[in-house]
Amino acid sequence: MDIRFAEFSQPQSGAIVVGVWEDRVLTAPARRLDEATQGAISRAAAAAPRFHGKKNQLLPIVGPPGLPLSRIVLAGLGKPEAVDARLIEDLGGAIVAHLNSAGESEATLAIDLGEGAPVKPAESAARLAYGAALRSYRFDKYRTKQKPEQKPSLMALTVAAVSPGEAKQAYKPLAAAAAAVAFTRDLVSEPANELYPESMAERAAALAGPDLPGLAVEVLDEKRLEQLGMGALLGVAQGSARPPRVVVMQYRGAAADIPPVAFIGKGVTFDAGGISIKPGSGMWDMKWDMAGAGVVVGLMRLLTARQARVNAVGLVGLVENMPSGTAQRPGDIVRSMSGQTIEVLNTDAEGRLVLADVLWYCQERFKPKLMVDLATLTGAVIVALGHENAGLFANNDELAERLVAAGKAVGEHVWRLPLAESYDRAINSDAADVKNIAGDRAAGSIIGAQFVQRFVNNVPWAHLDIAGVAWSKKDTPTVPKGATAFGVRLLDRFVADYYESE
Ligand code: BES
Ligand code: MN
Ligand code: ZN
Repeated sequence: MDIRFAEFSQPQSGAIVVGVWEDRVLTAPARRLDEATQGAISRAAAAAPRFHGKKNQLLPIVGPPGLPLSRIVLAGLGKPEAVDARLIEDLGGAIVAHLNSAGESEATLAIDLGEGAPVKPAESAARLAYGAALRSYRFDKYRTKQKPEQKPSLMALTVAAVSPGEAKQAYKPLAAAAAAVAFTRDLVSEPANELYPESMAERAAALAGPDLPGLAVEVLDEKRLEQLGMGALLGVAQGSARPPRVVVMQYRGAAADIPPVAFIGKGVTFDAGGISIKPGSGMWDMKWDMAGAGVVVGLMRLLTARQARVNAVGLVGLVENMPSGTAQRPGDIVRSMSGQTIEVLNTDAEGRLVLADVLWYCQERFKPKLMVDLATLTGAVIVALGHENAGLFANNDELAERLVAAGKAVGEHVWRLPLAESYDRAINSDAADVKNIAGDRAAGSIIGAQFVQRFVNNVPWAHLDIAGVAWSKKDTPTVPKGATAFGVRLLDRFVADYYESE
């Protein structure tokens, strides 16, 4: 879909979308259309008793009289004082979904919030476009037999703006964000026969180049991981025919002496559970057990694309967790890079083993200002928080508060859960320094986080358990069902609001 910004001129074909405030108060473009159609807008609004102009409510007027248009869509804006950037994004998303299901091929958005609205005109136009772009994402590369009515119809979207140049400028970083989100969604959506440690590492490595100046990508192979002593990560990988990789991405956008912020992702390209094998039903979902890594790669792409004034590193641990004759066994004891020995009682609690070594390596090598890891770590976080919030754990209150605030600002919500010594005791092992499960079902997500924390030194650290939010079974205004890329926008905002220097 092609998105452009232009000064408003009455379109001669396609659809037009205009705003209506709550209680059916028409915006200026809606009033003008009402005149041009001899009152068709007011009549339609009056004839639709359930259309009040509440946010995201849409009312189509198909084949309006007196104009060469296929349809006019009245778009509810809610109450003027409640309008914000997020609401406008959602509206942009809801509108493209509507237009696509209606089979429209071109449309003009004339959502004029008027003078004095809380969102300025250029920003509003950019946010509409952003929402539209985010919602337009599809993963259909393997669908060879789609009928025309199964494909998106909307090809051209014109967003009306008082000063199109300004709107275009405001859209630049948002377009980069939409592209990064789509990149992550692609990674997360790929099946595990296509996306495995080596192929995912290649996709990350391919980002480095003239299009993304300042980004360096290194791929550590199995031999290197052995030299580094990453026995915990290697233990997970040893059951698979696919060799593991660790990808290290570095972006420099600030002075060289400023320590980087670090992002670490769990990249289990398929999680069969290993010898502690998972049940067959639903196992296919474990192709997206690399979502944390996908988000880290997309985030690094985005920080670079918008040339953020920050130093950042992104590290992902890529492995496939399979059962086989070479797989690690329940009861095996592995030596992590930190030197701590780990008793692996359940081979399906593998994400924490991967994170243990990558976090350790990250803090040893980069001495980061802080570390945030993202992982589809536990089913238990879905029991606790459903699909509305990611689980947040942190050893630092300020860091936790910043993540909560950034999440709120972008609509990717995180909810803090506790860490405590009393939970930590549950993973003391009789045979090794630590064991990878507690042995009962109590506080599963906290236990996972406690395990990870054993591999964190005195660095401010936060862990986001994204098992419940990485994939969506239903559409929301800016996230079509499927891979969500949850975390890309949150962490981009987190960096922008707190870590960019002047
Ligand atoms: N990748 C899974 C967690 C998961 C479950 C992610 C559902 C997304 C959706 C993780 O590796 C896992 O298997 N965790 C176990 C831990 C248990 C063995 C302590 C779990 O949650 O059952
Ligand atoms: Mn697992
Ligand atoms: Zn897993």
